[in-house]
Amino acid sequence: MTITLRESLDLWLKAAEARLADVVLAPPPDQIGVVEQAGDGIAFVRGLPDLPLGALMRFESGASGFAHALDEDLIGCVLLDFDPVKAGEQVRGLGGVVTTPVGEALLGRIVDPLGRPLDEHGPIAAVRYDPVERAAPGIIERDLVTQPLQTGIKLVDALFALGRGQRELIIGDRETGKTAIAVDAIINQRNSDVICIYVAVGQKSSTVRQVIDAVAAHGDPQRCIFVVAGPSTAPGLQWLAPYAGFAMAEYFRDQGGHALVVVDDLSKHAATHRELSLLMRQPSGREAYPGDVFHIHARLLERAAKLSAALGGGTLTALPIAQTEAGNLSAYIPTNLISITDGQIVLSAKLFGEGQKPAVDIGLSVSRVGGKTQAPVLRELAETLRLDYAQFLELELFTRFSTTLDPRTQAQIEHGRRIRAVLTQAQYAPLSLAHEAAELLALHDGLLDGLPLDRIEAFKHQLPAWLEQSCKGVLDRIEAERTLDPSDRDRLRAAIEDLVKTLTPSASQASA
Ligand SMILES: Nc1ncnc2c1ncn2[C@@H]1O[C@H](COP(=O)(O)OP(=O)(O)O)[C@@H](O)[C@H]1O
Ligand SMILES: [Mg+2]
Repeated sequence: MTITLRESLDLWLKAAEARLADVVLAPPPDQIGVVEQAGDGIAFVRGLPDLPLGALMRFESGASGFAHALDEDLIGCVLLDFDPVKAGEQVRGLGGVVTTPVGEALLGRIVDPLGRPLDEHGPIAAVRYDPVERAAPGIIERDLVTQPLQTGIKLVDALFALGRGQRELIIGDRETGKTAIAVDAIINQRNSDVICIYVAVGQKSSTVRQVIDAVAAHGDPQRCIFVVAGPSTAPGLQWLAPYAGFAMAEYFRDQGGHALVVVDDLSKHAATHRELSLLMRQPSGREAYPGDVFHIHARLLERAAKLSAALGGGTLTALPIAQTEAGNLSAYIPTNLISITDGQIVLSAKLFGEGQKPAVDIGLSVSRVGGKTQAPVLRELAETLRLDYAQFLELELFTRFSTTLDPRTQAQIEHGRRIRAVLTQAQYAPLSLAHEAAELLALHDGLLDGLPLDRIEAFKHQLPAWLEQSCKGVLDRIEAERTLDPSDRDRLRAAIEDLVKTLTPSASQASA
């Protein structure tokens, strides 16, 4: 059953009005304003002096919007759809703010920021409607981030471990694999109890389709919600999208559950905010963004939290994405977001171009909170990884034109190349903790140093099945206990050495 957007907007407004029927309305419903000027998705309304920021308004013609800017006697109203609002039209305050449906019924669905279905599965039976804008939990209501959020991406889990309740920015130029990292993190939650919410702001519908299809093919779409406000929807809807996504996630967080919100991306959101503010004739500041752009993003991302035990201990993890121009991290929006979040994964166009994927710049990336939650097995095996890798990258650069190298440097470079090869990871193939640990053990103990570089791909490809066959028990114990005891370590090591032997050319020639 399909319903049109128009019909579902009416349903949504009716529901809003019904819910507000017995609320004392402020301002009184008989107070009527008049549109002074309208166009480009906004309207200026005069004559509703008591309306607060964010208040929902209904126009005579059927359109609706919310108060975005308050002047002394003029309200800047952002429209929720591209409805033809005309000057002179009457406007009423609905006595509430913009809300969005929340609840389990949204799982597996594609909706717009007001919770109106964009898929073919009919209306959504919401548990309730929550305001899209909510205050973040206070300091007393929070707890330290203690549980890990496994992304299944070796490079991230080993070097920039994330914790549930953390805010980690994914930032880089266009086409550097930002969305890919977030999508892999979502796919990896097929084996966890984390609900994923992917918010697309102003993304091309083909890109959004790709994400949804990838999650459907590789992840667990029935535990995901897709909140989509495409580039051709009203700027008001695009503006609301991240807030709506967070409201949907908070429903799970507040019940003691776990949610992950990806916002793809906040650069587009900032641009929409700028557009609206300029239309509202608000003063603009750096790069023509209004002064409150920091505030609106900080207020949003503050809602990511690990709640205290008294409040159920639920978590909301945020992975906002931001796009840079020519790798410029010191532009206005990137610096804002870097300072708001608990760390950033920086993607480099140069590495991406060299085929290093995920193209994470390990020197510029950091995770300030999640390290404490990292599985002990990964912490142990990745202890020196970052330093070894960073030293190798320097060495590689400096020795590029050298013809002779001392054996120690040569060995360091050979080892570094294997680190790079192991950390390279295809899309849509997140690894479980045990398999990540196995590959890192191979690196840590130098088991791959004798294997030709071009066989590493084959090694990574064959390892999972090989280990499932030869040491299933060890893998299960790593998953359950998140540690690696010495006897298991020896078994794992022996199994890896066996596989390496079968892949080493001389050995296969000898056996042939
Ligand atoms: N780890 C990876 N391995 C192979 N291809 C990748 C990987 N990550 C991203 N890509 C490809 O790179 C392209 C850009 O990735 P995308 O995530 O859309 O970039 P962005 O979101 O930064 O614009 C896509 O075609 C994607 O399939
Ligand atoms: Mg993208």
